[in-house]
Amino acid sequence: MEISPWLSLILLFFSALVALVTAWSLKGTEKRYKGLNLPPGSMGWPLLGETIAFRKGHPCTRLGEYMEKRINKYGKIFKSNLHGAPTVVSADAELNRFILHNDGRLFEPSWPTSLVNILGKKSMIIASGDTHHYLKSLAINFMSVPRLCSHFLGDAEQSILQTFSTWVEHTPFPLKEEAIKMSFNLIVKHILSKKPGEPETEQLRKLFMCFMRGAVAMPINLPGTAYRKALKSRAAILTIIYRLMAERIHQKKDGWDEIGEDSDLLGFILEQSNLDAEQFADLLLGLLFGGHETSSTAMTLAIYFLGDSRRALEELREEHIQIVKLKKERGETGALTWQDYKKMEFTRCIVSETLRLGNLIRFVHRKARSNVQFQGYDIPRDWNIIPVFAAAHLDPSLHDEPRKFNPWRWQTLSASTTRDDSYMAFSHGIRRCPGQELAKMEITIFLHHFVLNFDWESAELDHPLASPFPEFPKGLPIKVHKLSLDM
Ligand code: HEM
Repeated sequence: MEISPWLSLILLFFSALVALVTAWSLKGTEKRYKGLNLPPGSMGWPLLGETIAFRKGHPCTRLGEYMEKRINKYGKIFKSNLHGAPTVVSADAELNRFILHNDGRLFEPSWPTSLVNILGKKSMIIASGDTHHYLKSLAINFMSVPRLCSHFLGDAEQSILQTFSTWVEHTPFPLKEEAIKMSFNLIVKHILSKKPGEPETEQLRKLFMCFMRGAVAMPINLPGTAYRKALKSRAAILTIIYRLMAERIHQKKDGWDEIGEDSDLLGFILEQSNLDAEQFADLLLGLLFGGHETSSTAMTLAIYFLGDSRRALEELREEHIQIVKLKKERGETGALTWQDYKKMEFTRCIVSETLRLGNLIRFVHRKARSNVQFQGYDIPRDWNIIPVFAAAHLDPSLHDEPRKFNPWRWQTLSASTTRDDSYMAFSHGIRRCPGQELAKMEITIFLHHFVLNFDWESAELDHPLASPFPEFPKGLPIKVHKLSLDM
């Protein structure tokens, strides 16, 4: 192909311009931070930095080319330029722990603006100080163990069994979509008192699917992009939330609030809190979002890993057969109780291993509030820092054969022998996930009924990609066969 002289000139001009800007910005960085011992690394292209390489999809059971290459070259702590800002990336479990345990003092959240625009400027993941503390306490109360026993456990079981009843044997379906239905129906009932099958529940579920796609897409706000669609979904979800809020306030004033303050989060917050309307809506939206996307992905990942581990599946099924037998011996036939749940010990190992190897939340975003020193490196004030939890989860010095699905490893680990920085699926410190007990319970109850009711086979090959949340490109298509176990 021949290139016209004009095009060559233009290309030459732009290459020279990029080279000049790169040299200028590198010089600027060197000058500004003279005397500091910054971690090694490369700042990439001006403005764009290394964001594209950082965001490139890869199997979720690996660290990905970007991380692997740089760890080999620079070590576990290195600098980069991501999402338009100088950034320290940490694959070092000790530094990650240090960051999380100094959250609110030396570090604060610094999520990319694109995600903040979707989740809301008043959402809990952005809030700091007293506001964060207050929002967090509302979420913790909402998902406290007594409420899990009294409100969530029975509903989780119902939502799971109701979804199973719609499955047709030997007919392929994407498991991820079904898992979303189960966890979404549960959380939407407890937050807004919306029941499965109601048109508004379905409308909200579809809006959230769009919302999720945009939350992980490139933040390009142009017609037709996933990001633009997510912003529109956010607006549509907020319209529904504001309408439900207004209806409930109206009902309360008129003295006929049928649902009551204890039944859902909407009623509880209207009665108990002093949030402004925007804080209120962003809190509900964040919990609706966090409350179904993560749990449903974890359920799908567990089935994906179990599909390749017959021995783990058999041991898991045996645990649940025993639980049903014991219930029968006690003369119980009904729903699962909290005591039954507490006996599911091997299932707990499956859940921990799924979250370790699946790396649902691979990393989080923070920013240094002041100059911080760690292991001789300086992290300058206002620099972003990304603790990569997946690095500890896949580190062979912390977990034997880390890329292997081995739930038994959790049987030999104990609080006294485990380094608390080797497993951070739910984060640590003041930002630790308030939904962790709910999520673990949901996944466990799902596994209980799934392995007792079905055997399954893959209908099409599908592997989870980190982009950065684990995503099954085809939704993990499976075919199920009904089991009739002798129990
Ligand atoms: C397997 C499932 C889940 C995983 C792996 C997970 C993981 C995490 C992680 C790693 C964080 C910390 C983020 C940070 O340090 O900045 C977090 C925060 C959070 N999670 Fe979860 N989560 C799960 C389920 C849930 C559920 C079911 C809910 C709610 C119903 C929830 C609500 C939240 C909220 C509100 C925060 C923000 C906490 C704060 O900023 O203080 N999560 N989650």
